[in-house]
Amino acid sequence: MSIYGDYIKSVIRTVPDWPQPGVNFRDITPLLQNSAAFRKLIDSFVHRYQEMDLDAIAAIDARGFIVGAPLAYELGCSFVPVRKKGKLPFKTISETYTLEYGEAEVELHSDAFREGDRILVVDDLIATGGTMLAAAKLISRSGGLVVETSTIVDLPDLGGAQRIRDAGFGVFAVCS
Ligand code: PRP
Ligand code: HPA
Repeated sequence: MSIYGDYIKSVIRTVPDWPQPGVNFRDITPLLQNSAAFRKLIDSFVHRYQEMDLDAIAAIDARGFIVGAPLAYELGCSFVPVRKKGKLPFKTISETYTLEYGEAEVELHSDAFREGDRILVVDDLIATGGTMLAAAKLISRSGGLVVETSTIVDLPDLGGAQRIRDAGFGVFAVCS
């Protein structure tokens, strides 16, 4: 939990039964609409990472971009998009992962960073952890050093953060 964790949590809306019955969807749009809250959110990440000597922020398509871009700007490091399959035009490497039904794939440009670069992976939310873990593995396979994986919201009941830690990556969540 971060310095502003309780406050950030209070401005995230839970939408019951969306996109399907039984799912309580954590909707970050009220947080984004509130400029003071959005600033506190980015400040939470800056506070944690400003002394960590990062080279790049790798942000996950699409909601990870919302956090990743201002964080890269503030920390003075590069921004690397980790995209859903078929969106990146140059040479890519990819990682497949399992969804509840079927499979998904994330991709990275092969020249996105240099061997040994210190990289933070960011997204808005960890549910099963499949997306974040696939992105972290992809970056490791490409020669990057994953300093940590980082999210606005972790849903601990789904075990995603534990799964990512069990695979050897650190996890930071602003709130859960
Ligand atoms: C959501 C969320 C995470 C992922 C979390 O993205 O933004 O990336 O799912 O789920 P997991 O931990 O079970 O993998 P979504 O695929 O809905 O994409 P979007 O950001 O484009 O809406
Ligand atoms: N909110 C946003 N994205 C998600 C969620 C959620 O509750 N679950 C899986 N992806």
